[in-house]
Amino acid sequence: MHAQPRLIRVSRAQGSGHRQDVLIRENFMATFQTVGVIGAGQMGAGIAQVFASAGSNVLLFDASTPALDRGLAGIHLQLGKLVEKEKISKEQADGVKSRIARSASLKDFARCDLVVEAIIENFEIKVKLFQELGAILPAHTVLASNTSSISITRMAATTKAPGQFIGMHFMNPVPVMKLVEIIRGLQTDDATYQRTKQAAEEMGKTTVLALDGPGFIVNRILCPMINEAIFLLQEGVAPEDIDNAMKLGTNQPMGPLTLADFVGLDTLLYILQLLHRELGEDKYRPCPLLVKYVEAGWFGKKAGRGFYRYEQ
Ligand code: CAA
Ligand code: NAD
Repeated sequence: MHAQPRLIRVSRAQGSGHRQDVLIRENFMATFQTVGVIGAGQMGAGIAQVFASAGSNVLLFDASTPALDRGLAGIHLQLGKLVEKEKISKEQADGVKSRIARSASLKDFARCDLVVEAIIENFEIKVKLFQELGAILPAHTVLASNTSSISITRMAATTKAPGQFIGMHFMNPVPVMKLVEIIRGLQTDDATYQRTKQAAEEMGKTTVLALDGPGFIVNRILCPMINEAIFLLQEGVAPEDIDNAMKLGTNQPMGPLTLADFVGLDTLLYILQLLHRELGEDKYRPCPLLVKYVEAGWFGKKAGRGFYRYEQ
């Protein structure tokens, strides 16, 4: 028997006027008790943290050991900040940490009820991973992709159990942002959809059902806006002016260039290329300056340099 779930919800006002919650659920019988997260970058680490905070046991894997180390260290740092701010107790933070195990092999994922893929935004690399997982995952496991833009139907078709494949699109930073876009592929079955939606809600997230089209809802709207800001930069407007205009003029918490750096310019370029290719309209054409920045390896905050410079 599991003890009754204990909910601790701390609400706070955001600068933008929105309210956001920090949620810890203890002893919670989660929809998915054992969750595997693949990719320990900025998204995967956040996803591992929110599942463990909701009571799931989490296995975290990354193809790169330093990335896995950084991802785990980042989770510990975030939990430490929550303890410092007295939003959660030290015991609760330790509980979350103890529910996240590092994994050195995808074979460990044979015990997962749900696997969330959060690796690089690249169709071929994701498909290669799904093929490896096909030989490992048991029949009941749901496989979710955190892709920002790639067709869920197209990816599902490459997996062993297309009915159990779904898009679970978390927003960055995962522990803070309330939204999870859920994307059903043509093949996704009802049970997979219901369980995924329920799991997101157990974490205190709000879900929307997005169309399985390029960029879903958020990125279909957000990425062309950011691209337009990069065109303005290319035309000679100062980055601080572009960001301040949108922050102070439209109440966005971050200006579009800062947000681009935060998302990752490599990810942003991939999304824009996909929107351009699949929607076939010139309005989605990635700004040449963005292409140049990616060619230079200036991927944004995670690389220490993008439209701005960051201390590593
Ligand atoms: N992880 C966890 N918590 C974080 C965090 C992170 N990476 N970054 C900030 N926070 C927390 C802070 O600890 C702080 O918490 P408290 O209020 O409890 O102290 C809170 O968020 C606010 O942070 P800050 O005071 O440092 O700064 P801020 O008020 O500017 O907020 C922000 C930071 C929440 C990131 C805010 O700037 C914001 O909302 N930016 C826009 C984010 C956004 O649009 N995300 C969506 C990107 S698009 C996407 O994700 C889809 C895609 O596929 C590309
Ligand atoms: P990131 O570059 O921070 O992290 C990606 C991680 O995946 C890296 O640590 C890398 O080592 C690892 N990786 C790459 N190939 C791998 C493989 N074959 N097997 C295991 N690990 C592998 O990227 P991110 O920003 O966390 O994005 C991850 C996914 O989430 C992408 O699909 C992206 O589109 C999506 N996403 C990103 C954001 C965002 O704002 N950055 C928001 C929502 C969704």
